[in-house]
Amino acid sequence: MRLVIVVLSALLPLSLCDGRDPFSWLFSRHSQGNYYGSLQADAPAGWCPEVCDCPPTFPVAMYCDGRGLTAMPEVPSHVKYLYLQNNAITAVPESTLVNATNLVWLMMHHNQLTSEGIGAKVFLKLERLERLYLQHNNLSSIPSNLPRSLRDLRVNHNRIEKVTPADMEGMDNLTILCLHDNAVTDMSMSLKALKSLTLLDVHGNKLTKVPEGLPEHLHQLYLDFNSIDSVPEGFLGQFTQLQYVRMSHNQLTDKGIPANTFNVTGLVELDLSFNKLERIPIVSNTLQHLYLQANQIKEFTLGSFCSFMNVTSFSKLLTLRLDGNEIAREDIPTESSQCLRMASTIEI
Ligand SMILES: *[C@@H]1O[C@H](CO)[C@@H](O)[C@H](O)[C@H]1NC(C)=O
Ligand SMILES: *[C@@H]1O[C@H](CO)[C@@H](O)[C@H](O)[C@H]1NC(C)=O
Ligand SMILES: *[C@@H]1O[C@H](CO)[C@@H](O)[C@H](O)[C@H]1NC(C)=O
Ligand SMILES: *[C@@H]1O[C@H](CO)[C@@H](O)[C@H](O)[C@H]1NC(C)=O
Ligand SMILES: *[C@@H]1O[C@H](CO)[C@@H](O)[C@H](O)[C@H]1NC(C)=O
Repeated sequence: MRLVIVVLSALLPLSLCDGRDPFSWLFSRHSQGNYYGSLQADAPAGWCPEVCDCPPTFPVAMYCDGRGLTAMPEVPSHVKYLYLQNNAITAVPESTLVNATNLVWLMMHHNQLTSEGIGAKVFLKLERLERLYLQHNNLSSIPSNLPRSLRDLRVNHNRIEKVTPADMEGMDNLTILCLHDNAVTDMSMSLKALKSLTLLDVHGNKLTKVPEGLPEHLHQLYLDFNSIDSVPEGFLGQFTQLQYVRMSHNQLTDKGIPANTFNVTGLVELDLSFNKLERIPIVSNTLQHLYLQANQIKEFTLGSFCSFMNVTSFSKLLTLRLDGNEIAREDIPTESSQCLRMASTIEI
C-alpha cells in the first residue's frame, strides 16, 4: 500500500440547518396572482385571505410567502401548512393564530419579527405544531411558551444572547435545533432534557465554553466559530450516538484538550481546523475524516492515529487535512502508509 497525497479540497457536508430545505419544492408558488385566493373565497369549503394562495389541490396549505406583507393575515382553522416567509412581518399579536390550532408547519423565516412583537402565548395553543421556522428575523430571545409538540425549531440568524431551561421545557420530541449565527453566550443547562435532540447547531455564536448538559442522543454537534478554548474532561464520552463534531474556528489549545478526549469510537467526522493546536490529538482508529488545517502543528505523530499496528489494527481515516500547519511532507514517517492505509486524501 502506498500513501497517496493529493491536494483536493474535501467538501464538508452541509449541516441540515444550512442546507436547502428538503421540502422547498412545496414552497414554489402555485400562481403569481390571486387566482386561487379568489376561487377559494367563493368556495363553500372555506375562505382564503385575498393576499394568499390556498390551492384547491392542497387545501390544507396556505401560501403567503414573498408578498411584502407587514402584518399577519387571518389564518383559517383548517390550515396545516402555513408559508409566510420572505415578507416584512414585524409582529405576531396574541389574537392572530387563535383559530389556527391545526397548524403543523409555520414558516416565518426572513421576516422582521422582534421578540417584543410576539405575543407571550401566541404559539401555546398550537398543539400540533412540529416545524417552526423563525430564522433570519430580529429576535432577541427564543419565544416563550412554545408548544411541546415541536420537532424542528430554527431560530438561527437572529440576535439571541441567552437560552434558558424554560425556553426548552418539555420538548421531548425536539430533534433539530438550529441556533447558529446568534450572539449566544449562555445556554446554562437548557438542553439537558431534550431527549430526542439529534442535531444541535450553535455555530457562529459567542460561546467561551462547551455548553453543559448536552443531550446524550446527539448525532451532530456543531460548535464552530465560537471562542471556546478548552473542552471538559470526558466531553465526548457522554454521548452514545455522536458522529459529527465540528469545533473549527475556536481558540482550542493542546492544554485545553484532556488526553483521549477525541479517542472515542463512533465518531465519523471531527473538525478542529482553525484553532491553536500544536499537536495532533489522539483520535480513535475508527474515525474517518479529520480536519486539522490552519493550526500550529509542528510534528506528525503517527501514534495519534495508531497506538499499534498489525494486519487487523489500523486507522480507518479516509480524509486527513493538515495543510496550513508547520509540517512538511518530509515529516510524514514512512510507516504511515501501514497505519493510514485507507486514506485517500491527505493534505499537508
Ligand atoms: C376566529 O374564528 C372566529 C369564529 O369563526 C371568528 O369570529 C374570528 O374572527 C376568527 N379570528 C381570527 C383571528 O381569525
Ligand atoms: C431589530 O429590533 C431592534 C429593537 O427591537 C430595532 O431597534 C432594530 O432596528 C431592529 N433591526 C432590524 C434590522 O429590523
Ligand atoms: C411526541 O411524539 C409522539 C409520537 O409521534 C406523540 O405521540 C406525542 O404526542 C408527541 N408529544 C407531544 C408533546 O406532542
Ligand atoms: C484509544 O482508545 C482505545 C480504546 O479505548 C485504547 O485501546 C487506546 O490505547 C487509546 N489510544 C491511546 C493512544 O491512548
Ligand atoms: C493485532 O493487535 C491487536 C491488539 O494488540 C490484537 O488483539 C490482535 O490479535 C493482533 N492481530 C494480529 C493478526 O496480530
